[in-house]
Amino acid sequence: SSTQVKDALNRPLRDLRISVIDRCNFRCQYCMPAEVFGPDFVFLPKEELLSYEEIERLAHIFVELGVEKIRLTGGEPLLRKELPTLVDKLSQIEGLKDIGLTTNGVLLPKHAKALKDAGLKRVNISLDSLKDELFGEINGRNVGVGPVIKGIKAAKDAGLGVKLNMVVKKGLNDQEILPMAKFCKENELQLRFIEYMDVGSTNGWRMDEVVTKKEIYNTLKEHYLLEPVDPDYFGEVAKRYRYKGTDVDVGFITSVSESFCSSCTRSRLSANGQLYTCLFNGDGHDIKKFIRSGVTDQEIKQYVTDIWNKRTDRYSDERTDETRKNRKKLEMSYIGG
Ligand code: GTP
Ligand code: 5AD
Ligand code: SF4
Ligand code: SF4
Repeated sequence: SSTQVKDALNRPLRDLRISVIDRCNFRCQYCMPAEVFGPDFVFLPKEELLSYEEIERLAHIFVELGVEKIRLTGGEPLLRKELPTLVDKLSQIEGLKDIGLTTNGVLLPKHAKALKDAGLKRVNISLDSLKDELFGEINGRNVGVGPVIKGIKAAKDAGLGVKLNMVVKKGLNDQEILPMAKFCKENELQLRFIEYMDVGSTNGWRMDEVVTKKEIYNTLKEHYLLEPVDPDYFGEVAKRYRYKGTDVDVGFITSVSESFCSSCTRSRLSANGQLYTCLFNGDGHDIKKFIRSGVTDQEIKQYVTDIWNKRTDRYSDERTDETRKNRKKLEMSYIGG
């Protein structure tokens, strides 16, 4: 019964990324630097977040418009109370093919089993270094690697699919590229190297701190034989390769050096209930206010359709110093990547 809405550049609406909370137990330098997100930082009160009922209602409508995949993000989504309850509701939506979660992994030993039982299929876990000291510095909370490894193991043991995300920043953790690759290959984990992006306004991004896919690939090539792998689905974010003679993949998320806007099918709901059509387009739509004004499902469907039909975003294709200056910024902790 689903219709497939298209945007102004003919891109279908296929994914919905939902940030369920703006808080995080980490303070990663590139995302929520401790200097900005300090003890006095004011996070959203509960009423400002979309309720589980509201999220479920919206998810149903988005699926009717063509969404097949939902990803829960944060902040740290596992800080939202009773997340498995939401996953359970979402997993009952007919037509939805995939539910994933992006997390720092630390709370997975506590929640992995319940999430899997509720219908979660897979988790993407962030890990930027295997050295305790460096990792503690990057996550801003002196958390060592151990708690994340425990989370990875808990997710695997629960039967969840697991991918690892590593944001690479020049001079910070580029020495960790090979150790991470080796660790993931040996443990049969899919690792994705992520180019450091200019999201938000707090991380002080500079182009010369980006380590590109090409540089990382060349480093890997000196040690491993890699074969390209076809995308899993239209618009897959990562470009993947396989270590020859194994079943283990490694991927690259090339938002900076080889943008992928032409196949971008992603919509985003922020923690405070705004609908965004691009990670870098800060002009959100107040869908929370709209749905709280007593509208019908049909009216919401029309609202989303109109927004998607008008969408022309392709920020990463167009990224220049000029567009960087002029855009209205959107913080990662509200939008979840
Ligand atoms: P899969 O479903 O496993 O492919 O997940 P994913 O890679 O789409 O999601 P994840 O949350 O793991 O994000 C990995 C990285 O890709 C993060 O740094 C995101 O910010 C980035 N990313 C995801 N979608 C987009 C996008 O549409 N545009 C850009 N520029 N970056 C994106
Ligand atoms: N650039 C690239 N990736 C980022 N992430 C957070 N901030 C950035 C950034 N500035 C990643 C996290 C997580 C995912 C949701 O986004 O590491 O894996
Ligand atoms: Fe938290 Fe993830 Fe942001 Fe790190 S990248 S501060 S773990 S939301
Ligand atoms: Fe999609 Fe915007 Fe990312 Fe391009 S920059 S892939 S349009 S979210």
